[in-house]
This record gives sequence, structure tokens and C-alpha cells, in this order.
Amino acid sequence: MCVLELNNVSYSYEKKSKEVLKDISFQFEKGKVYAITGKSGRGKTTLLSLLSGLASPTKGKILLDGKDISGLDHYRYRSHDIGVIFQSFNLLPKLTAIENVILSMDISGKKYNNKKKTAMELLEKVSIGEEESNRRILKLSGGQQQRVAIARALSCNPAILLADEPTGNLDSETQKDIMQIFLELAHKENCCVIIVTHSNEVAESADVVYKL
Ligand SMILES: Nc1ncnc2c1ncn2[C@@H]1O[C@H](COP(=O)(O)OP(=O)(O)O)[C@@H](O)[C@H]1O
Ligand SMILES: [Mg+2]
Repeated sequence: MCVLELNNVSYSYEKKSKEVLKDISFQFEKGKVYAITGKSGRGKTTLLSLLSGLASPTKGKILLDGKDISGLDHYRYRSHDIGVIFQSFNLLPKLTAIENVILSMDISGKKYNNKKKTAMELLEKVSIGEEESNRRILKLSGGQQQRVAIARALSCNPAILLADEPTGNLDSETQKDIMQIFLELAHKENCCVIIVTHSNEVAESADVVYKL
């Protein structure tokens, strides 16, 4: 059964301007990694902003478990149902890796038994060790920052993980490692992982590819 669905979705930034997305219908299930591909300017980031509830379709619907997300509490949707990894990571550079993850837990309003321990476990899951966890973001490599951004997105234990060009600035070895993390989250933890990418190599390792 699909967890998230785009139903004839179109989007334009201004009322009478050209549609950036036109009549898109995609379905997403748990347990799979989806790659949405398309050249620059095709609307990949726009599509993610619709899926993450930051913007609403001008036509059509987005359904979460069969329910129109426009009728859901958006704060709850964004803090409980989905985890988002932005293209620029949006990590706070002066805080440490673990502080970034804990901050996100604080903001989500969810209850955690032991935030520090949970944060550490999430960071371990993406191969960030104790020493790096306590280092400021500024002092981590691009690949390490990407891992921290993934750990942070996982902190609300979301069913759906959305990522914008998650391997965009990484060398091909690190790119493979990051894809491996996504594949494990989908295949072992039944997460629905949706990434947008212009890289064919990344798309090839996904379970399903949708083209824009
Ligand atoms: N805030 C905005 N206002 C108006 N047009 C925008 C805005 N953001 C993006 N666009 C336009 O929408 C199209 C799709 O952009 P985007 O979703 O960023 O594509 P991609 O991520 O595939 O490169 C582009 O033509 C872009 O110029
Ligand atoms: Mg983009």
C-alpha cells in the first residue's frame, strides 16, 4: 500500500505564470528508495517543497495514507511524519553534530526518554562516531555533514524521508556510502525514502526511478 501519493499535481509559483510541475502522479511505498530525476530547473526542489508541506499544489492533491495533507496539521506533518534533508543541510555550524540532532528533537515536541542517547544512536547509524559527534559542524567534512543531516532528519522517526540532491557535492565513494544508508533505512527499517537527484549513478541504485 502506498504511504504517499501525488494525485494529478500541478504547481505554479504565481497565479498566471507557467506551471513548473504539470499533472504529476507518483506513488510511494514504504520499504523502497525512490529517485526523482530531471535536469536542473525541471522542478525537483519545487516537488520536494510540496511533499514536505512547505507549499501546496495549485491543482491536484497529495495524500498521506490516503488522506489529503492539506487537511492535516502541517506542524505535526512536518515534525512527525516526514524527515527532510535540505540541499544546503541547514545545520547550525557553530553547534556540534550531536547538539544539532538534539535541537531538532527539542523542536519536534516529541517525547524522548533519553535525548542524548537517542541522538548518539542516530549518529552511530550514519557512522558518525563519538569524537565527531562532539565536533562543531564547521569542522566536519561535506560527507560527514550530510550524515549528520540524515541523522537529524531521522530524529522524529519518520515513515518518510525526503532528500534534495543528497549526494550533490560528494565524491563518488562518499556518494555510494550515503546511498547505502538510504537503502538500509528502506530495506531494513521499512522507511520510504524519496530523493531528488540529477545524478544517473544515484538513480541507478534506487529501487524506483521517476522522471520529471
Ligand atoms: N520561488 C520561486 N519563484 C518563482 N519561480 C521559481 C521559484 N523557485 C523556483 N522557481 C522556478 O521553478 C522552476 C523549477 O525550479 P526548481 O524546483 O528549483 O528546479 P530543480 O530543483 O529541478 O533545479 C525553475 O524554472 C525556477 O526558476
Ligand atoms: Mg533543486
